[in-house]
Amino acid sequence: MPVIGVFDSGFGGLTVLRALLPLIPNAHYIYLGDTARLPYGAKSQATIARYAVESARFLADQGCDHLVIACNTATALALPEIKAAVAIPVIGVIEPVVAAAHAALLRATPTPTQDPSSQPSSAPVSTNRPPDHDLPTPQILVLATNATVQSHAYFQASQNHHLHATEKATPLLVPLIEEGWTNHPVTRQVLSIYLAEALGTCTPQAILLGCTHYPLIASEIESTLRKLNSSATIIDSAQATAAAVAQQVAQANPPSTPHRPATFLCYATDSTEKFRRLGSTFLGQPIPSVNLLDLGG
Ligand code: DGL
Repeated sequence: MPVIGVFDSGFGGLTVLRALLPLIPNAHYIYLGDTARLPYGAKSQATIARYAVESARFLADQGCDHLVIACNTATALALPEIKAAVAIPVIGVIEPVVAAAHAALLRATPTPTQDPSSQPSSAPVSTNRPPDHDLPTPQILVLATNATVQSHAYFQASQNHHLHATEKATPLLVPLIEEGWTNHPVTRQVLSIYLAEALGTCTPQAILLGCTHYPLIASEIESTLRKLNSSATIIDSAQATAAAVAQQVAQANPPSTPHRPATFLCYATDSTEKFRRLGSTFLGQPIPSVNLLDLGG
C-alpha cells in the first residue's frame, strides 16, 4: 500500500487530500499542516524554503513513498529545495493546475479548420497540440498569495503551456476563509473588489485558484465573476493535483486488490483542537484525531 505524504502550511491542503482520498484508495495518507507558522504567503523565500524543507523531511522520515506539496506558496518558492532535501518523488500544485487549464482551454478552442458543432465534446484531446500562431494566446487569471504572485511561478509555468497569465495577489482571502467566512458578505465584497481590479486589466478565459484555500469559496468566486460579466472557467487546483498524483502513484504502484478505502493520519504544528474543527470543513469529513508536532521556530 503506498504511503502518500501531503504537506501544506495549514488547512488548505486538506482540499487536495479530499480530492485524493476517493481517487487513490488502497493508500495511507499522512497530512502535515504547519499551522504554527501559517501564513507562508506573507513570508520571504528563504523562510518559506526552510519551513517547507523541515516539513518535507518529517514526512519522508515517516515512511512516505510520495510527497504532495499541497501548498501553492511552498510550491512556487521552494519546490527545488524540497526535491533536493528528500529522496522520494515530489509533486507540487502549480504544474498540474496550469496543465489542466491548458487542456480545458484547448477543449474550448476549435482549431481553425474545425467547426465546433462537428466535434463531439467527449472527443479525446491532445494536450501536446503545438500553439497555433493564428489564434491569440489564451488568457488566464491566477488568484494567489503575495509570495506566490511575486515569485511569478504561475507566469512561467503558463508560458511553458502557451498561456498568458495575469497574476493577482488576493491576500485577504486566506484569513477570511480561516475565520470560516466562506459564505459571508464581507468575503463577497472583498472578492468583488479583487476581481473587478483584475478584470480591469485582462479578459481571462480561465481563473486558476492558485491557493489551496480558495476551493472553499469557489462558488462565491464563480458568482462574483458572473456578476462582473466574466464567463471564465474556474480551474480547481485540488482536482488537477489529485489527478496528477494518481497518475504518478499508478506508475509506481500497480493497483492492488481487494479494494480498501484510504486511511489518513493528520499532524499539525499548532492547536490540534482547532485543526480538527476547521480541518473537517476543508476535508469534508470529520477528522477523528490530530497529532501535535513541534518543528521548532
Ligand atoms: N497554503 C497556502 C497556499 O496555497 C495559503 C496559506 C498560506 O499563506 O500559508 O498558497
